[in-house]
Amino acid sequence: MHHFTPRDGALHAENASLETIAAQVGTPVYVYSAATLRRHYGVLRAACDARRADLGDALIAFAVKANSNLSVLATLAAEGCGADTVSEGEIRRALAAGIPAERIIFSGVGKTDAELTFALDVGVRQINVESGIELERLAAAAAAKGVQATLAIRVNPNVGAGGHAKITTGGAGDKFGVPVREALDLYARAAASPHLNPVGLACHIGSQIKDLTPLRAAFEVLRDMTQTLRGQGLTVTRLDLGGGLAAPYADTDQTPAVETYVDMAAQVLRGLEVEAAFEPGRLLAANAGVLVSRVIQVNERSDGRRFLVLDAAMNDLMRPALYDAFHGLVPIRPRAGEVRPYDVVGPVCETGDTFARDRALPPLTAADLVAFTGAGAYGAVMSGEYNSRPLVPEVLVDGDRWAVVRPRPTYDAMLAREPRAPWLS
Ligand code: LLP
Repeated sequence: MHHFTPRDGALHAENASLETIAAQVGTPVYVYSAATLRRHYGVLRAACDARRADLGDALIAFAVKANSNLSVLATLAAEGCGADTVSEGEIRRALAAGIPAERIIFSGVGKTDAELTFALDVGVRQINVESGIELERLAAAAAAKGVQATLAIRVNPNVGAGGHAKITTGGAGDKFGVPVREALDLYARAAASPHLNPVGLACHIGSQIKDLTPLRAAFEVLRDMTQTLRGQGLTVTRLDLGGGLAAPYADTDQTPAVETYVDMAAQVLRGLEVEAAFEPGRLLAANAGVLVSRVIQVNERSDGRRFLVLDAAMNDLMRPALYDAFHGLVPIRPRAGEVRPYDVVGPVCETGDTFARDRALPPLTAADLVAFTGAGAYGAVMSGEYNSRPLVPEVLVDGDRWAVVRPRPTYDAMLAREPRAPWLS
């Protein structure tokens, strides 16, 4: 469910015309819908609240890595959403957007000492520790400050899942978390330290997961471990269930309903009396954003191939190049005529800069506007300036209002960022 719909013959984001935005901001440009973000959060919030008996006062911590734009975060913050962060930069963004520290989780496989100290300084809700060595470093950082660090141990449940090998994180060979037995040992060790306060366990097994079976298996590992730890007299009050639930990208994508997913978690946690946390990224943001692009030209080659050359490229939306990911492509103004296959490409000088092969599209021509759908998660956050293409701007729509929430840099600003080495001036 999203708020990108045709109106007066052209695609709109809520009440804002994408043609108007493209004309005023230029293309390529990301456009987000605040109503869609709120709706996605609201559906998950309602499902959690309906299962309060099993999930406690569940925290929904948006995975900031999916979309870290300050206005996007502030929109979610206003709904009461928390944040799952993986760097000092993300913690700073979450705080700046108005997400209170007590709703911020700090995860990640390689946190620096400076980052651990920063997280303790601002008093994040919990630090998800991913290794024995990190536990020691956290204890040292907490001791140096004379505080106790509240933490969860991230378990590698040996259940991997996800839409692509590069986004599967829970398999035994993946770099994330610690195996079950070691996690139990670390938990007990943490409980014995005056500077550490272990409160729970965490897992995150992958992203774009369409099947609840591996998620259930991972949650069951956490449940069984909770019982084992309690059997040893240790206290466990929180289970962080990670993110990973798939968002529908294609109309034909079958993804589990949010309620079904939350019900499954509630079933697994029933009777444990823990407080659950969810860390959705894609689920909240993917279909809350589109990437609007203009057709530069159509290259009709003598060998019969037809290339739709857009002004967006892999530096603006990396997912197709990196994960062979599918994004829908819709003309902003419907075009009549024969639907034919196009290779959809950007101007960057490598074949990887291909968004889609043989995509069936109506006749398109230079200056037409198109939108990549499902681009609100892992889109702008992964963009760069390869080929010296200016960083893609972002726009947030909310009802009738819209605003540029990350402007496109000018070429002068781009060049000014790089001071000349003194011996070269
Ligand atoms: N929690 C942790 C600890 C994570 O590592 C991630 C994502 C999430 C939550 C959120 O997962 P989600 O609900 O969005 O699936 N760039 C890739 C996705 C990488 C996901 C990495 N971890 C892509 O564009 O598909």
